[in-house]
Amino acid sequence: MQSGSIVKDPALAPEGHRKIDWAARHSPVLNAVREKYLKDGSFEGLGVGVALPIEAKTAYLTVVLAEAGADVAVAAPGPYFVQDDVAAALAERGVTVYASSQNPPEEADRELERVLDRALDGKPAVLIDDRAGLVRLAHTTRRNLLEGVRGASEETTSGVAKFRAMELEGVLEFPVIAANDARCKYLFDNRYGTGQSTLTAIMQNTNLMVGGKRVIVLGYGWCGKGIARYAAGLGARVTVCEVDPVRGLEAYADGFDVLPASVAAEIGEVFITATGSRDVLGVTHFERMRDGAILANAGAVDEEIDTVGLAEAASETREVRRNVEEFVLSDGRMLHLLGHGMVVNLTAGDGHPVEIMDLTFAIQALCAHHLANDYKSMAPAVHLLPKEIDDEVALIKLNAVGMGVDALTPEQEEFLRGWRD
Ligand SMILES: NC(=O)c1ccc[n+]([C@@H]2O[C@H](COP(=O)([O-])OP(=O)(O)OC[C@H]3O[C@@H](n4cnc5c(N)ncnc54)[C@H](O)[C@@H]3O)[C@@H](O)[C@H]2O)c1
Repeated sequence: MQSGSIVKDPALAPEGHRKIDWAARHSPVLNAVREKYLKDGSFEGLGVGVALPIEAKTAYLTVVLAEAGADVAVAAPGPYFVQDDVAAALAERGVTVYASSQNPPEEADRELERVLDRALDGKPAVLIDDRAGLVRLAHTTRRNLLEGVRGASEETTSGVAKFRAMELEGVLEFPVIAANDARCKYLFDNRYGTGQSTLTAIMQNTNLMVGGKRVIVLGYGWCGKGIARYAAGLGARVTVCEVDPVRGLEAYADGFDVLPASVAAEIGEVFITATGSRDVLGVTHFERMRDGAILANAGAVDEEIDTVGLAEAASETREVRRNVEEFVLSDGRMLHLLGHGMVVNLTAGDGHPVEIMDLTFAIQALCAHHLANDYKSMAPAVHLLPKEIDDEVALIKLNAVGMGVDALTPEQEEFLRGWRD
């Protein structure tokens, strides 16, 4: 086991190895990126601090970076995001892991601090962050380590929003690449990945049918679009709630009903939030919901569903199935919350399909590589991944599935650039 790792049970490693091997086998893009770019010595003598859910695909990314020469330390955003068998296997594969599903949730920041301490122990490092957890700590409780950070890349929409706020306030101290905003990330991960895995998690944990159900999707961004599409594909009657009128209109044009949440609360049987905001479903909504309604959050903000308000409104709470909590309200209605109201496809599921995360983590590996080499020329601001890198990732994937695209001829390029014709 990698010295210093803290995991629940090292004996769980064999099953974790099987899961990681499966992910590796279905990751042609990350494997191609490893062969073409990551073996050039960029990661020798470099720390990589990672904050991501500990499951097979994230594990494989950290293994690839460790094999490229980096000293990799990893922790999850909290105990509900840890698969203990994968954590145990990772610790055997040369990655330092601070993650156990048994740790109290309030310990999550301590584990992230350990990641920073380890990754930046006498060497520079790049960070692969989720919801800005590592970078927030590097700017507060671990400011002594700031100098060694070459830069960070951010996995999700909500984290990028925090980095933009830091940049606006003028407090961001190193460059950050918005990995989430690469087209090969949000078009596939946020849309198809969240769509498929959220519906899978709901079906697996409830063992109920989706067809015919009134499903309410709150937020029609990239995640919401995917969720609505997969729910509709399974035969659900989908209603969308939005605060952006254009997105609402887009949902209408895509064939969905669009209603305020207070109205949708009365008709919904399954509610899925994906907004990146807080209290999107609160007590005023719970009061109107039908008996048996199911509540799930797919957004990266744990407070999208006001679970504190829900607990206060309930006279009784019990776990009725694995990952399903039942809240009995004073009038006898029962509401069912999945995965503690946190990102349901991870806390109550296996996360996105492997092929989706292959794209996302090829992007993340290239972000880390780019930061390791080009950090000096990058201002302390939020950067987009260069378009050529995004294009190359898409091409590798297309080739891997036996498909291809055309290239513009020089004449076409000239035509598109000019105005005289
Ligand atoms: N579950 C996952 O695996 C996963 C994957 C990627 C992103 N995410 C997270 O999901 C959330 C959404 O991501 P996205 O990429 O779709 O973001 P996005 O910005 O594209 O879309 C969010 C949408 O929510 C709407 N919205 C905001 N507040 C609302 C409210 N109170 N009621 C109704 N709609 C509201 C916005 O108008 C916007 O259209 C983020 O927190 C992101 O980090 C989760």
